[in-house]
Amino acid sequence: IPIPDLKTCGPATKTACPDNPTIPYSCCPPPIPTNYDTIPYYKVPTMTKIRMRSPAQNADEEYIAKYNLAISKMKELDKTEPLNPLGFKQQANIHCAYCNGAYLIGGKQLQVHNSWLFFPFHRWYLYFYERILGTLIGDPTFALPYWNWDNPKGMRLPPMYDVEGSSLYDERRNPHVRNRTIVDLGSFGEEVQTTELQLLTNNLALMYRQMVTNAPCPLLFFGSPYVLGNNIDTPGTIENIPHIPVHIWTGTEAGKPLPNGEKSCGEDMGNFYSAGLDPVFYCHHANVDRMWNEWKAMGGKRKDLTRKDWLDSEFFFYDENKKTYRVKISDCLDTKKMGYDYAPMPTPWRNFRP
Ligand code: C2O
Repeated sequence: IPIPDLKTCGPATKTACPDNPTIPYSCCPPPIPTNYDTIPYYKVPTMTKIRMRSPAQNADEEYIAKYNLAISKMKELDKTEPLNPLGFKQQANIHCAYCNGAYLIGGKQLQVHNSWLFFPFHRWYLYFYERILGTLIGDPTFALPYWNWDNPKGMRLPPMYDVEGSSLYDERRNPHVRNRTIVDLGSFGEEVQTTELQLLTNNLALMYRQMVTNAPCPLLFFGSPYVLGNNIDTPGTIENIPHIPVHIWTGTEAGKPLPNGEKSCGEDMGNFYSAGLDPVFYCHHANVDRMWNEWKAMGGKRKDLTRKDWLDSEFFFYDENKKTYRVKISDCLDTKKMGYDYAPMPTPWRNFRP
């Protein structure tokens, strides 16, 4: 997959849900100053200190304050016209553009989900988002937190996102994410009555299934090939569960009213076009990204894909200096080389073999 043709970026549509038809939505990047053909390849800058992403439930006050400040600065960038590519809305629009049909690739709408593009696309997306936040607060080591939902200690909405009026809060969430409710990692919307203990146990068993039993080889973990003109649309194990359930659980239930009176179509987290408007999106995806590292750490056949059409696939991003770059999948396989890593947490699901 080559980088999308930015010159032909067009209207996208909000993903439909039962009551709502698809609605046009515009989320193209701001006009590109340079010629599309001369956008250079990105080279990971050399760094002296690694950015360490830590579990969100352990964040201290200093970190929370810093992170809130960074997001509020990013939101302030939205106040200019045309939209600043580094602003909060335009960062969320990146997700929309790559998921909701704004780009055409080989005559078909580009969609990075349900395929092997899922892990690398989101890795690069978070990479730049994190660097932009760090630059906004003058902290070159700023790192995103991760939503540690694979560990019982993190199976709730991380508290820092649930402070009304703070920049990490989002009104367009399902009210059930509050009050320390435990997320059901396997639910696509249906609510099952069970005890907390049972739910924690189910979640761990499910993690075992998705990381170990069902993902013994790369294509099952990463998802089906996405090649020009021939997509099978099978998500990888983790993309399917728990990644999607966490989105659905967090967003407003479809059909329920949103704060503006409109009927919800899963906003924010439960719809592709709006997911990036909830700051917790990036925390959720940090843990998805961490699962990629954890999966490889198990060894054996659990390795990155080696097919050239995967390694050579490209995306387009703005860096923290508003410069445009094309990035390759082959350059995002090692997070340490990219300048960040994950503070370790126990992975208790490893002991939940059925
Ligand atoms: Cu691009 Cu979690 O979705």
